[in-house]
Amino acid sequence: MLKNLNTVFLGHNFISLSEIDSTNRFLSQLLSENPPDGTVIMAEKQKNGKGQMGTSWFSESGKNLTFSMLLHPSFLQADQMFILSKMAAVALREAVQFFLPNAPVMIKWPNDILVEKKKVAGILIENQLEGNFLKHTIIGIGLNINQLMFPPEIQHTAISMKLYSGIDFSVSVILEKILEKTEYFYHLLKEGKTAEIENEYLRFLYGYQEVVLLEINQKRVESYVVGVEKNGQLCVQAENKMQKFDIKAIKWCFD
Ligand code: BTN
Repeated sequence: MLKNLNTVFLGHNFISLSEIDSTNRFLSQLLSENPPDGTVIMAEKQKNGKGQMGTSWFSESGKNLTFSMLLHPSFLQADQMFILSKMAAVALREAVQFFLPNAPVMIKWPNDILVEKKKVAGILIENQLEGNFLKHTIIGIGLNINQLMFPPEIQHTAISMKLYSGIDFSVSVILEKILEKTEYFYHLLKEGKTAEIENEYLRFLYGYQEVVLLEINQKRVESYVVGVEKNGQLCVQAENKMQKFDIKAIKWCFD
């Protein structure tokens, strides 16, 4: 299983499956059995992996990481949930950077991880509320590690750690590092020390304080990235005005 896991709680309850439809779906179904905080479900193969906005996540069996983590951030109110997205992205980015020390590893808003402007990892966060507070959070991560070929529709926009570096990585060693980094940043969040998360997110946010090309209402628009709102909206100066967008409203032109 995880032989060198250096965490206090995250990943201590670890379930490794050879095949499942989706680790996020599996973990969400497991909630009725009250699994402990920090439960991690990993699958060698996902038959129906879920991506953001109703898309699918494809990953070659046994080559990559597809896993989900369970957290109980009951200290966060519903309108603060985007900080979890930042936390997960910052932790995952740092873990990838650890193994690719010379690579440009960036965060694409809201929480994709890029290597050389290509997507190496995606994060799908699913929250359950109790009243106005968060109850369960499932953080699903798909990280391309040793896959060398991608389907034609994503071959120009996807990358793996091996494609970048030529190195064949140990999937479980990378998982351990991601869990350690996630626990570290989650601990900061719990303590209310969000500045490090906010700073790291902006430090590595692709296009931050730069002009990027965005597709807004089917039109390519040069946009200056001002920042990210507390609710997660991207804030840009475009067409001579300040505009805020949800993830569904814009497309990055290098998608
Ligand atoms: C994205 O579209 O960028 C998010 C992709 C998230 C994929 C991961 S793979 C493990 C977990 N289980 C799922 O069904 N999806 C997430």
